[in-house]
Amino acid sequence: MITDSFNRPLRDLRISVTDRCNFRCPYCMPAEIFGESYQFLPRAEILTFEEIARLAGIFVGLGVNKLRITGGEPLLRTNLHRLIDMLSGIDPAVDLTLTTNGYLLSQQAQQLKDAGLQRITVSLDTLDDEIFKQMNGRGFPAQRVLEGIEKAAAAGLAPVKINAVVQKGVNDHTIVDLARHFQGSGHIVRFIEYMDVGNRNGWKWDEVVPAAEVIRRIDAELPLEPLESNYQGEVANRYRYRDGTGEIGVISSVTQPFCGDCTRARLSTDGKLYTCLFAAEGLDLRDPLRSGASDAELRDRIAGIWGRRTDRYSEERAELAPAQNARPKVEMYQIGG
Ligand code: GTP
Ligand code: 5AD
Ligand code: SF4
Ligand code: SF4
Repeated sequence: MITDSFNRPLRDLRISVTDRCNFRCPYCMPAEIFGESYQFLPRAEILTFEEIARLAGIFVGLGVNKLRITGGEPLLRTNLHRLIDMLSGIDPAVDLTLTTNGYLLSQQAQQLKDAGLQRITVSLDTLDDEIFKQMNGRGFPAQRVLEGIEKAAAAGLAPVKINAVVQKGVNDHTIVDLARHFQGSGHIVRFIEYMDVGNRNGWKWDEVVPAAEVIRRIDAELPLEPLESNYQGEVANRYRYRDGTGEIGVISSVTQPFCGDCTRARLSTDGKLYTCLFAAEGLDLRDPLRSGASDAELRDRIAGIWGRRTDRYSEERAELAPAQNARPKVEMYQIGG
């Protein structure tokens, strides 16, 4: 096990397998910027499955016990099930999961499960079609995502978690409906505070609905009580319905940052290691990988980066005035949230 400057171990690796997406959520890939002519990464710059699996094995050797596949939209990566198959062979004790927008999930859920994926998280910000069409930037209705969620559950990718980003004045009036829809289904909806990820979403404090407010609004209609965390450093705060019909979560990265427990590293599509969701730069692992570095050399490089880690962006955001915090950041679609 390795720890960083603040004694935080390295436990989770989030692996982005593509920078492309079939959605254009305005808070992540606004359509005006990511149009027809936008240049995504060329194939040669993207890590191959073999390269990803080799690095993942090294990370597991350093103490990582959760691998999460992200994008962009990971289900756009051709033959993703092959990568899942390779990763599931590293160590059966490793939690292997994936975050998707769900659009292609119906057709892939069973194949992913068969390849060894254990569970899945689907992003779905609202059930209101007019708002959802606007929030995915492509005019897609929610129905297809709902079908994907049901296919995933039927395939045994459970518990299915549903991530909803809450933006004040956009979808915050629909959160109780979303909670109610999944009450009793066994799926776990998690409401995420809208964050200032990347450089393009024009984030403002007043667009954030505090997690405490989300809980207050849901509790008023569907009574809740808090639950203990599943493990130290869990991102979501958990609540259960008092009538026993399931649980929800809130992710309060803006109003109650959780950097103190942050055990997450992120590997970008082109093989850079980011030690924070808000980091300006990543450390390249692809060049050493492609120029013949041994596993021991790669391990030392990763351990060195982690050992020097001092990231605590969300805590700093809470401490600083907004203008002091305007440094460049990696984009969400490069490291998958
Ligand atoms: P479980 O493994 O099911 O507990 O999920 P998780 O909470 O680790 O992963 P998930 O990807 O579902 O996280 C939900 C969302 O929380 C992400 O998409 C981000 O928006 C946010 N999030 C996750 N990790 C971090 C983090 O390290 N920092 C910040 N600021 N936000 C994070
Ligand atoms: N704030 C909070 N969450 C975000 N996501 C994307 N952009 C933001 C943001 N600005 C979420 C997606 C998805 C996950 C990968 O991150 O909706 O659930
Ligand atoms: Fe795609 Fe997810 Fe970004 Fe939306 S938030 S554009 S689904 S990567
Ligand atoms: Fe971890 Fe950075 Fe998020 Fe803090 S802001 S929890 S250090 S990823």
